[in-house]
Amino acid sequence: MVTTNNLLEEAINMRNKAYVPYSEFPVGAALLTKSGKIYTGCNIENASYPVSCCAERVVIFKAISEGEIDFVEMAVAADTTRPVPPCGSCRQVMSEFFSRTMHIHLTNLNKDTKTVSIEDLLPFSFQPNDLP
Ligand code: THU
Repeated sequence: MVTTNNLLEEAINMRNKAYVPYSEFPVGAALLTKSGKIYTGCNIENASYPVSCCAERVVIFKAISEGEIDFVEMAVAADTTRPVPPCGSCRQVMSEFFSRTMHIHLTNLNKDTKTVSIEDLLPFSFQPNDLP
């Protein structure tokens, strides 16, 4: 049985895999599927800076590309004073795949954790059913 603490630790550990030669700011993420599997991700940067991808999008795209679609919980970790807030692009990607109320645990290295939903992070977001 996967606990929230397991997810926080996976996210914290994944910072070790981050490819961050430019920012030197490693971020880790862990995503639990309904089937009980944990996917992990880290940020991956590029010499062409804007091409870089955040840990949150890496982990979601890894899981989606493996055929997963039902998610239960996510954790994101960075060495921040407050629990790390996800960027706007990642919030939009989360809003595509997460239920309005799914728990997203934002944490730091002290495990100061803020648990939010995508509705908290990105209210009134553009949704697939806004398309004609
Ligand atoms: N970053 C993430 O991976 N997730 C966040 O929630 C915040 C920012 C990355 C992007 C970039 O590689 C580095 O952190 C500094 O912005």
